[in-house]
Amino acid sequence: ICSSPDYHNCPAPGMPEYAFIGRSNVGKSSLINMLTGQKELARTSSTPGKTRLINHFLIDENWYLTDLPGYGFARISRSERTQWLGMIRDYLQFRKNLLATFLLVDARLEPQRADTDFIHWMGSNMLPFLIVFTKSDKLSGSKLDSNLSRYRAFLHKTWEELPRIITASSVNGLGKDEILDFIKEANTVFRS
Ligand code: GTP
Ligand code: MG
Repeated sequence: ICSSPDYHNCPAPGMPEYAFIGRSNVGKSSLINMLTGQKELARTSSTPGKTRLINHFLIDENWYLTDLPGYGFARISRSERTQWLGMIRDYLQFRKNLLATFLLVDARLEPQRADTDFIHWMGSNMLPFLIVFTKSDKLSGSKLDSNLSRYRAFLHKTWEELPRIITASSVNGLGKDEILDFIKEANTVFRS
C-alpha cells in the first residue's frame, strides 16, 4: 500500500506488523511473494539493492508485512550506509505495532558478519525476531542440517537462548505454513 523513506511516514500503527530483513539478494522479496501467493507483489531481482524503502503490504485487511532494504550491498557510499542504518534502526526500535522481525539468512553460507552484527544488535536491544534460513532448496537435507547446527553453535557462543530458526524456500514453499502460523498466533495476541 505504500513505500516510506522512514518510520515517521509509515501508515498508522493500528494493525499488527511484521518486517522482513536481511542482506541484499538473500531472497526477502521472493519470500514475501511466496507467503502471499502472489508472484510479483514484491519486486525481485538478481541485481542487489533493488529495495530501498520501507514497503508496506496490507494482508487480508488485517496485518502489515514490510519489505525492508537489504543491507550489505557493495555499491553504496559510507554516508548512505550510515543513513540507511539509522533509518532501519529507528523503524525497528520505534515502530509501535511491529510484533516481530524475520531476519533472513542464506542457508548455504557460514555465519556472515553483517548478519551476526545485526543479530547482536537486535538481541542487545531486546527486539523480538526469528531467523529464516532461505534458499534451502539449494542444499541436500544433510548439508542443511549441518549448516543449521553450525549456525546455532555460532550464536551460542554469545547467546544462551536462541531465536526460533525456520527453514524456508521460495521455490518449493518450505516454511510457508510455519511462518504464517506464527503470524496468525501473534495477531491474536495483538488484538487481545
Ligand atoms: P534486495 O531487494 O536486493 O535486497 O534482494 P532480496 O533479498 O529481496 O532478494 P530477491 O527476492 O530479489 O531474490 C534474489 C535472487 O535470489 C533472485 O534471483 C531469486 O530468484 C533468488 N531466490 C530467492 N529466494 C530463493 C529460494 O528460496 N530458492 C532459490 N533457489 N532462489 C531464490
Ligand atoms: Mg527485495
